[in-house]
Amino acid sequence: TFRLYGPDPTVYTHSYLCFGRDQALSRLLAELVQASTGLLIRHPCYHSGYRGTLALASLYESPCAPAAPPDLSQNLTVEGTGNPGACVEALRKLFNFSSCDGREDCAFAGVYQPPVQGQFYAFSNFYYTFNFLNLTSKPSLSGANATIWEFCLRPWKLVEASAPPGQDRWLRDYCASGLYILTLLVE
Ligand SMILES: *[C@@H]1O[C@H](CO)[C@@H](O)[C@H](O)[C@H]1NC(C)=O
Ligand SMILES: *[C@@H]1O[C@H](CO)[C@@H](O)[C@H](O)[C@H]1NC(C)=O
Repeated sequence: TFRLYGPDPTVYTHSYLCFGRDQALSRLLAELVQASTGLLIRHPCYHSGYRGTLALASLYESPCAPAAPPDLSQNLTVEGTGNPGACVEALRKLFNFSSCDGREDCAFAGVYQPPVQGQFYAFSNFYYTFNFLNLTSKPSLSGANATIWEFCLRPWKLVEASAPPGQDRWLRDYCASGLYILTLLVE
């Protein structure tokens, strides 16, 4: 409870550290690295035909990262497989929904969650992602789901060819972001 111009409101707040979009996607990539035997990672949330490299060390800079392997000097090659179903499965594991054991007062990661009501506000990455995917005009849930899946299934070549200018840095992550948002808000 705190004082705010008269009546003292009672507020519940919780910050889910390491579950924000950027950290979640970085943790997802680190999980894929740990599950693979070599330095070629097949990523279900990246479009088929996508291929990129990144320094292994960059995945372990955040306190949210899992334990780092001993040799961080190597580079990884990441290849997209464009598989939204497998991407959602991988995201679900990150949220650890099962740790709530079906309890109503728990949303994910075993953290207490009181009943929610009223309007929801989502901003920053949530807006940029849905804006990029043309989903800001209140689509139905099934419509949003279909649009995001269809986008994830598009070959990388087509995604690149039809991207508005200035999107290069974020382009490969919109599929994962869209599925992350759906998984978080729906489940
Ligand atoms: C999921 O949550 C349970 C209970 O909180 C915990 O023991 C387990 O390690 C978590 N699993 C992952 C993958 O984080
Ligand atoms: C969003 O709509 C614009 C205009 O119709 C289109 O050019 C663009 O490809 C769409 N974006 C996606 C990700 O489908």
